[in-house]
Amino acid sequence: MCGIVGHVARSCSTRPLEVVMDGLSRLEYRGYDSAGVALTHGEVDDGSELTVVKAVGKLTNLRAALAETPTAPSRSAIGHTRWATHGQPTLVNAHPHVSMDHRLALVHNGIIENADVLRAELRAEGYRFVSETDTEVVVHLLDRAFHDADLPAWEGELAGLTGPDSDRGRALVAAMLAITPHLQGTYTLLALSEEVPGLIVAARRSSPLVIGVGEGENFLGSDALAFASRTTDAVEVGQDQVVGVTAEGIVVLDKEGAVLEPHHFSVDFARERATKEGWSTFMEKEIHEQPRAVAATIADRLDATGHLALDELRIPESILRGADKMIIVACGTASYAGLVARYAIEHWCRIPVEVELAHEFRYRDPVVNEKTLVVAISQSGETMDTIMAIRHAREQGARVIAIVNTPGSTISRESDAVLLTHAGPEIAVASTKAFTAQIAATYVLGLYLAQVRGNKYADEVEDYMEKLERVPEAIQWVLDRAESVRQVARSMADIDSMIYLGRHVGYPVALEGALKLKELCYIHAEGFAAGELKHGPIALIDEGQPVMIIVPTPRRPELHNKVVSNIQEVRARGARTLVVAEEGDTSVDEYAEIVFRVPRTPTLYMPLLTVVPLQIFACELAATMGHDVDQPRNLAKSVTVE
Ligand code: G6P
Repeated sequence: MCGIVGHVARSCSTRPLEVVMDGLSRLEYRGYDSAGVALTHGEVDDGSELTVVKAVGKLTNLRAALAETPTAPSRSAIGHTRWATHGQPTLVNAHPHVSMDHRLALVHNGIIENADVLRAELRAEGYRFVSETDTEVVVHLLDRAFHDADLPAWEGELAGLTGPDSDRGRALVAAMLAITPHLQGTYTLLALSEEVPGLIVAARRSSPLVIGVGEGENFLGSDALAFASRTTDAVEVGQDQVVGVTAEGIVVLDKEGAVLEPHHFSVDFARERATKEGWSTFMEKEIHEQPRAVAATIADRLDATGHLALDELRIPESILRGADKMIIVACGTASYAGLVARYAIEHWCRIPVEVELAHEFRYRDPVVNEKTLVVAISQSGETMDTIMAIRHAREQGARVIAIVNTPGSTISRESDAVLLTHAGPEIAVASTKAFTAQIAATYVLGLYLAQVRGNKYADEVEDYMEKLERVPEAIQWVLDRAESVRQVARSMADIDSMIYLGRHVGYPVALEGALKLKELCYIHAEGFAAGELKHGPIALIDEGQPVMIIVPTPRRPELHNKVVSNIQEVRARGARTLVVAEEGDTSVDEYAEIVFRVPRTPTLYMPLLTVVPLQIFACELAATMGHDVDQPRNLAKSVTVE
């Protein structure tokens, strides 16, 4: 939630603005209520200046504002794309926020929980506030510390800064170190001042920040995607750390100001261009990337002896063997991937699996101990609710396995084991390829645990993996028939609600189908376990009510026949029935108005196929209704506040 970018170079040019605008466009999925940039120009000796340009709404409005009033070449720049928390999405509330003398600018991602107390204190000292944001409190605090003659400058070196530049730079670093202990809540902060144009000072607590290392320039971003294709060398910024970034160097400090050895990691992932590649929306492109995303996620997991491996494992096998319970924590679409995983993991590993929304998990005092395995599923690896859940679990002694799509993300760093989904950058806010990649990853995890815990022999694991390797081709089969789904969606632009029904692994698919419709089409949609239909939801059915039913394979008659009966039950009450069914399953033909087909696949793998028509349906219906498919209203891709 909120995207942050920074760039600092040796001399003034148009590059800082270009880098920051490009970075913001890559991070716009994090929020699009408003956007803004702050730039420093000139040198300290011959008059430096600060410019701030902001616009309400999407980044294209900021681009238009910059085109109308071109800015001078700059030495450093920070940018922000906002998802509003404190204060309406207005121009005054847009970031960057500036000090009263307009010489210091700051962007913020997170929530300062004690902002009211701090604001009152600053007001009493004569500070004037123009916005309703918590962030403005921080800019005034930083400015006050920066100009506090009694505050000793930080004593280290900032590479490339000399003379007065160095002095003011060390004062700005000291100011950031001085204020952060007084901030409660979460933050990533980036600040620059016209008094020291070659420096960006940053800090983070529980909100994301990574630094990209360039040559004669450096980058900062909420995630590595911000500087994708510019560098693969990144530096982690840990909890409560402060950094000073110049064109020549990066200093990472602990909260006392001691210099830490920077921890570098590679961000090859960020090299992938996040472009639409000819598709009209990212979402369509990402739906069609699913065969590749699933294939890449399961590829090269088996060694020559048929044994599976995770990406990073810091949990002794004895602990995996001794675990007596698994709890999957996640939010949104990722939690539905967890619900699918439960069927497979319980079946393969004979271990009880609970699936819990991360924000509920933490507050209900769950029974968690050193025998509990917690699995966190997250595309971004930055969802605050999920981060808080894994911290809580680790405090109780549980081991945490992360399934994430973003290498180097907070969740992957704070977990004991990591399994990466190789879906590539997902830009559309509504998740598609990350979902199927997450399901595939949970299967790898389930088979891995079954192998370690002795529930499955290596040849059995290999057999399951071989079948899983055939799934990408089956997804392609469904995608090759996408046009028929699109046609149906185009004909249904008048609907105002939709019900989704599924049984067994089809149930989480129904929930995900309904979520896609809510997110993209802004109409009420609800997913139910098909067995629940007669316990209440059937009362919703009247003439013309559209119902989407996910039908299990006829090879599992105990599941299949009951769902076919459900189709008849809703049909008899006037529903329009849309059905997702296996190729060759003719039993549905009589009761289904429309049938979307998927090829024959093992039951546990079916969600990887049956969800695809539901994604295509929601995407096309939203486009037909004239909605912004990639950036639906009110949403942000990465929810980095609780
Ligand atoms: C937001 C997004 C969803 C996503 C959820 C969890 O709500 O809009 O698409 O499923 O967060 O995000 P994560 O990055 O943890 O998977």
